[in-house]
Amino acid sequence: MPKRKRPEELRSHRWYGTDDRRAYDHRSRTGQMGYDKSDYAGKPVIAIINTWSDINACHSHFRQRAEEVKRGVWQAGGFPVEMPAITLSEPFQKPSTMMYRNLLAMETEELLRSYPADGCVLMGGCDKTTPALVMGALSMGLPTIYMPAGPMLRGNWHGQVLGSGSDTRKYWNELRAGTITERDWEEIEEGVARSPGHCMTMGTASTMTSAVEALGLALPGSASIPAADSHHARMATATGKRAVELVWEDATPKNLLSASSFDNAVTCVVACGGSTNSVIHLIAMARRAGVALDLERFEAISRKTPVLANLRPSGKYLMEDFYYAGGLPALLASLRDLLDLSAKTVSGRTLGENIAEAKIHNAEVILPRAKPLLPSGGLAILRGNLAPDGAVVKPAAAEPRLLKHKGRAVVFEDYNDLQARIDDPKLDVDADCVIVLKHAGPVGAPGMPEWEVPIPKKLLQQGVRDMVRISDARMSGTAFGCCVLHVAPESFIGGPLALVHNGDMIELDVERRRLQLLVDDGELARRKRLWKAPARKFARGYGALFSQHIKQANEGCDFDFLEGTSPTPEPEIH
Ligand code: FES
Repeated sequence: MPKRKRPEELRSHRWYGTDDRRAYDHRSRTGQMGYDKSDYAGKPVIAIINTWSDINACHSHFRQRAEEVKRGVWQAGGFPVEMPAITLSEPFQKPSTMMYRNLLAMETEELLRSYPADGCVLMGGCDKTTPALVMGALSMGLPTIYMPAGPMLRGNWHGQVLGSGSDTRKYWNELRAGTITERDWEEIEEGVARSPGHCMTMGTASTMTSAVEALGLALPGSASIPAADSHHARMATATGKRAVELVWEDATPKNLLSASSFDNAVTCVVACGGSTNSVIHLIAMARRAGVALDLERFEAISRKTPVLANLRPSGKYLMEDFYYAGGLPALLASLRDLLDLSAKTVSGRTLGENIAEAKIHNAEVILPRAKPLLPSGGLAILRGNLAPDGAVVKPAAAEPRLLKHKGRAVVFEDYNDLQARIDDPKLDVDADCVIVLKHAGPVGAPGMPEWEVPIPKKLLQQGVRDMVRISDARMSGTAFGCCVLHVAPESFIGGPLALVHNGDMIELDVERRRLQLLVDDGELARRKRLWKAPARKFARGYGALFSQHIKQANEGCDFDFLEGTSPTPEPEIH
């Protein structure tokens, strides 16, 4: 029988259980909220970090779900305490939710540290909320369980299935090409988002919630349940119950997670045809756990992992179909030989035990190993003189003919420049050109937004739907196209992307993982000498803190002072 914590060993005992003036205050103020001593004395305090907000449609069910988590905590003999935290609402927050991921991570860590929490339930789902909550909780180190928001239901337009982001982009291109009407576009707007929940393509949200389940921090199968399904409410209650047990078992992330847990998460991401954003987030999360995950590890795992989830944007189906097909446990079960099945998880069982009974119910949605969407290389890490510290591309989302390509650079200095000129009929561009967007990285944008480079309108009208595009920005996980992203170091700090001129030739060779600017070294050195660092954008405030401390994409874009595992003292209680 593993050792269980005793009530006086609970962290909250320092607040509630001691015989001093401060504990008197804590007890009397808890009573003020209507709780009797028997509600909390000697019980694990479970902090429920809730990223609900009126401005986050993906979490619009979270007020109700928080109650369901609490029901589970009460039933298991814990004391639930809901703590609201900043929401990161992908569609609304500018310049990018990525600018605020580390802020939510800090808030999560410090909420857990400064209040009498013994363990926590993290409620997130919309893109950056997942890595942010997990990063903060990993740094604090309390027993942690993640409650994924779940995907929304399939979109619908005239009986056609619509996927978040992916189909918006597709039909936006068709509108610009003149193949659908303004009325069609309005109807698509009304039909694409039909219920609570996060984007239901295999975008960043589904990728990251699935990754956290494969990592071992969410209950088996939880990430695939649609938000509107009654199973989701039951999962929330089960999550609350399990949170209490995790405290008694002292099942901290440190006691559960290992380097192979993160390898399992990367394998899951690749097999899902997951978002390029996951590379940044998983590196940042791993570093918080003291695991040295890097781009090379992603590349090595990607080289041997097939893409089996036939989900948009790489494939055909949506998360609701994935759930009915068996969900993530079924996908992971068909990857047994590529996973560390002995990895521990919050269920109290190993990953192997979690997926032992899992079965695929629809082999069109979760493809068999013999018929993958892509045999390997769902995410590819590129290097070369244009990206000495790496860049990322998602070959499954690109037109295959572009994966080995040489073309003339058409350069945009920043996103405003791109918006002003991309649809100009006089723009000197053809389908073989390589479009370059500068100053869209972590420091330069700032916040490394999902600033996608569209196909110029005149080429859309000629039937072109994909081109090689290169930038130091990110791309939405729901997007598709031959987009080389996360170029590091970024142009704003003088990375080679800053030195690209209109008319330079650029060579992309995904098979060889190469990205080369075909300009000789002498000329590049001359351009570098002439390059002037742009002025920083912020003199004060969070923007200044962000610009001073943000790390590059290949390092996970964490703040330098938040990385690592150095211990932080517990607060003194006086
Ligand atoms: Fe929230 Fe896509 S907008 S996950």
